Amino acid sequence: MRHFTSITQLGDLNEALAKALAVKANPFADQALGKNKTLLMIFFNNSLRTRLSTQKAAMNLGMNVIVLDVNQGAWKLETERGVIMDGDKSEHLLEAIPVMGSYCDIIGVRSFARFESKKADYEEEILSQFIKYSGRPVFSMEAATRHPLQTFADLITIEEHKTKARPKVVMTWAPHPKALPQAVPNSFAEGLNMTDYDFVITHPHGYELDPAFTGRAVIEYDQDKALEGADFVYAKNWAAYEGDNYGKVLNMDRSWTVTTEKMALTNNAFFMHCLPVRRNMIVSDDVIESPRSLVIPEAANRVVSAQTVLKEILLGLE
Ligand code: CP
Repeated sequence: MRHFTSITQLGDLNEALAKALAVKANPFADQALGKNKTLLMIFFNNSLRTRLSTQKAAMNLGMNVIVLDVNQGAWKLETERGVIMDGDKSEHLLEAIPVMGSYCDIIGVRSFARFESKKADYEEEILSQFIKYSGRPVFSMEAATRHPLQTFADLITIEEHKTKARPKVVMTWAPHPKALPQAVPNSFAEGLNMTDYDFVITHPHGYELDPAFTGRAVIEYDQDKALEGADFVYAKNWAAYEGDNYGKVLNMDRSWTVTTEKMALTNNAFFMHCLPVRRNMIVSDDVIESPRSLVIPEAANRVVSAQTVLKEILLGLE
């Protein structure tokens, strides 16, 4: 593997899951693989899990790690070509990227959707420039349209907890006060489409996702109906995708919050969320604290997910 920007680049999902579980069982088996190799992690946006889990994964593989928060301490970067740089941006991405590439062997990039232009976001304006100009393997630590390391961790977590070959997995929109990107739900849908699980997406009218990601998922506008018989409930907020509403919060309808009453409609489902989560907006305290909540093991599997992907990229360098 050279670049990793989509869960589909894992190839055969069952093989990838088997590799991940082997990494989890023996996390220090590949310490020699990363020796004298440097990972540069570049953050255009905040992070807790991605930052720590990816760093831990690289350390498990014997790598050195450099972390750069672009908006804290680095020169402010211009991203558009042709701009007269007479404002507050001191450096252009077109110089910064190859410079960063010269200091490392692999680059991880976090760059969220900016909601200024749907076209720019869905063309992955920032991530694609790193792939084009860094000269290094690049992996996504959540980009504008996908969060594949999160999705891989989600699929590993489902694999570990499912009690039937084809569980029913329901991804439900839930309310949030801010406009959040579609990267996690897009990516989760893309990953679920690589399985043969029963997959349902439920959201209010107006929150339809890009059909290129939702694929074969059943779209159900009645949340209660969607939750019936679910084995896994994956909650997430996202801003509107369609038309002029792109990037907008259309409502904060708290009747969509995942509560104990909602979970009672399911087949004693496990609750999942990528975190960070707004309690009593997305999910009630009692659901996230219940024994059926997987949010902590799901976050812990971010190390496994990142380590499995980094290992594949390191093998591709040899
Ligand atoms: N789930 C996730 O990516 O968490 P962070 O934003 O804290 O990295």
